Amino acid sequence: PTDSPIGIDPLRVVAKELKFLTGNIQQLLGSGHPLLDRVAKYYTKSEGKYVRPMLVLLMSQATALTPRYSSGSTPSSPSHRASSIDEPLSPPIILSDANPSQNPLTSQDSTTTVASEDILPSQRRLAEITELIHTASLLHDDVLDTSVTRRSAPSANIAFGNKMAVLAGDFLLGRASVALARLRDPEVVELLATVIANLVEGEFMQLKNTSATTDAKHPTYSEDTLSYYLQKTYLKSASLISKSCRAAALLGHSAPEVVDAAYAYGRNLGLAFQLVDDMLDYTISGVELGKPAGADLELGLATAPLLFAWKEDARLGELVGRRFGGEGDVQMARDMVLRSTGLEQTRALAQSYVDKAIAAISGFPDSDAKAGLVEMCTKVMDRRK
Ligand code: FPP
Ligand code: MG
Ligand code: MG
Repeated sequence: PTDSPIGIDPLRVVAKELKFLTGNIQQLLGSGHPLLDRVAKYYTKSEGKYVRPMLVLLMSQATALTPRYSSGSTPSSPSHRASSIDEPLSPPIILSDANPSQNPLTSQDSTTTVASEDILPSQRRLAEITELIHTASLLHDDVLDTSVTRRSAPSANIAFGNKMAVLAGDFLLGRASVALARLRDPEVVELLATVIANLVEGEFMQLKNTSATTDAKHPTYSEDTLSYYLQKTYLKSASLISKSCRAAALLGHSAPEVVDAAYAYGRNLGLAFQLVDDMLDYTISGVELGKPAGADLELGLATAPLLFAWKEDARLGELVGRRFGGEGDVQMARDMVLRSTGLEQTRALAQSYVDKAIAAISGFPDSDAKAGLVEMCTKVMDRRK
């Protein structure tokens, strides 16, 4: 354990661990069928950001220094387990460290044992599993979105066709499931299986821009509009990040309050991550992004920047109703968003989630890994791709 340096490079903290990640993932994806082997490994050969594995590794290391689970403490709440559209967007647990002697995450009472900051083999495997699930979702997503590029190269659906891209995604999910089962931890299996269901639920929610209760053809902005979007965002993006942070803490036998803090960190960071993603779609060129920019409006999607603009200008409702399919709709919506405070408000909302993520782990003892988790928050806010 060291003190907590400001602005530590999170990549450096877990660089040693990450070095083996791609090789291990490729091993998990080996198939005797040469073409399936190639398609399945296709996205593992491009430069991913490895956000999810990095978070799992950092969380594993940061929680290794916190109190362990022991028979004396209460088991973690099963509230995260509900498999359907769960997770009301309630405020996260904020752990005040005003009085360190009473901080549940650092107190060393008789129920806790001293831990090392080593990452366990099971946590390393979890990092690989999160990347497999993420990559499977990208293979399927590029088919659904009829994408042409991903990470500055032809997307898998273009390189191999839709059928092979879908099957390769299924193959990744299969191999991820095998690796998950081998962890021999039913609660972790349940969490990650729920993630896969959540990804599909989020994608289904996105097929319809607004909740089923509003008039699809003539929607008006209401209180529900943003919460529907945030729920979709949780399922599509934050579920994997939050539940894998939770699983990392569980595999390390962390105490229940630590497991909950890991989850709260991931949930809030995941929401911020997607809000920034939705902002970049309006502000960054396709060349810099490595995938087409402005794609959301073209796909008929009303994301946070547009929703905030719609709140200010009801005329956007008509365009939302026809999913920007009318002549000149995309350009008009784009201009209206850029003239509104939508991008500013999206950024502010992302910042508020990032602040909550940092607050969630503020009670963890200081370490390079904790500083790395904090720095991930800054990186999410500053990223340009
Ligand atoms: C990227 O979103 C896509 C996702 C985060 C998840 C997509 C989920 C599915 C396709 C459901 C099937 C899931 C599995 C596990 C097989 P995006 O299109 O907004 O981002 P992009 O610009 O990177 O394409
Ligand atoms: Mg897409
Ligand atoms: Mg998509």
